[in-house]
Amino acid sequence: MRENVTSFQQAHQIREVFGSVAPRLGEVQQFLDRELDQALPPVREIAGYVLGSGGKRVRPALVLLISRMLGYSGERDIRYAAVIEMIHTATLIHDDIIDESDLRRGKPTANRKWGNQGTVLVGDWLYTRTMDLSLELGDVEVMRLLTSATLQMIEGEILADHVRGVLELDEDTYMDITRRKTAELFSAACALPALFQVSTLHLTETLAEFGRSLGMCFQLVDDALDFTSSRSELGKPVMADLREGRMTLPMILLLPRLSRNQRKQIADVLTSGEFGGMGQNQVLEMIKTSGVLDEVHRRASAFADRAVQLIEKLPSTPERATLAAAVTLLLDRRS
Ligand code: IPE
Ligand code: IPE
Ligand code: MG
Ligand code: MG
Repeated sequence: MRENVTSFQQAHQIREVFGSVAPRLGEVQQFLDRELDQALPPVREIAGYVLGSGGKRVRPALVLLISRMLGYSGERDIRYAAVIEMIHTATLIHDDIIDESDLRRGKPTANRKWGNQGTVLVGDWLYTRTMDLSLELGDVEVMRLLTSATLQMIEGEILADHVRGVLELDEDTYMDITRRKTAELFSAACALPALFQVSTLHLTETLAEFGRSLGMCFQLVDDALDFTSSRSELGKPVMADLREGRMTLPMILLLPRLSRNQRKQIADVLTSGEFGGMGQNQVLEMIKTSGVLDEVHRRASAFADRAVQLIEKLPSTPERATLAAAVTLLLDRRS
């Protein structure tokens, strides 16, 4: 992966790209706070903990930026940006339970603090409450989009769990899982704003495809960062995918280059959850010297290029340029 962007520069770029929607992101946070104020105390505590622990807020920022690009001036962008972040939060809560993960956004995960039993239902609550929030305004088309994205995310996680520990995971299955578990929510976040006004309905498909391409890029980068980043930079464990039994693109591409013995050792990590015979550093070394990370970056870049091409079909506004900058930023991100 390219490492030419320092975290300082990146923080600056993030402020620049998302700075234009920062005040509205503040309103999204107020919306979320009001939601939690009205919730049962255990929901308030646990969901509040996760929602209050940071996170890049990439998906809500996309909702806000695209809404502005399309000239929308109502309040739906705030509500649905919050809804998208709630769906994302529910998925992270469930994902950390499934992965038995102990760190998220630099803090102990909710499952680590409150256990699986209490936490899983808070994820369910968040999903269900988002449906309420769409129904309150009678936005059936928005709800259709959100339901489809949520369903595909859950299917993605189901399929990922189904192939957990499978060494010979093929690339098509990996891409299908990636699309469902990550890209479809990006797609919904980007397409939603087109539904707010009759005059922009015709842009729904282009924006959906833009978001899908960006989401694919985002998850491919995430899967590379699992090997190349650090626990402190990412705020979540690194070298975790293999230990969690997940074959991701870097490892899928490396596999054909390994000896029979090395493959057996990787298979052991996938099933035992521990780096035994083949140490963690040895795996990392192979990944880094093999050139597979450049290949992953090429694939991620191809999705980013596709996203940028689709932007050309959108109204030419200052936000359109910001959107293109956001694509580059997410491709080159380090955290
Ligand atoms: C994490 O998403 C899950 C993936 C799709 C890789 P983010 O990287 O957007 O997580 P936060 O919200 O910033 O913590
Ligand atoms: C799963 O992806 C998160 C979803 C988008 C469902 P990852 O397992 O790669 O996410 P992290 O790395 O735990 O954030
Ligand atoms: Mg995970
Ligand atoms: Mg990951």
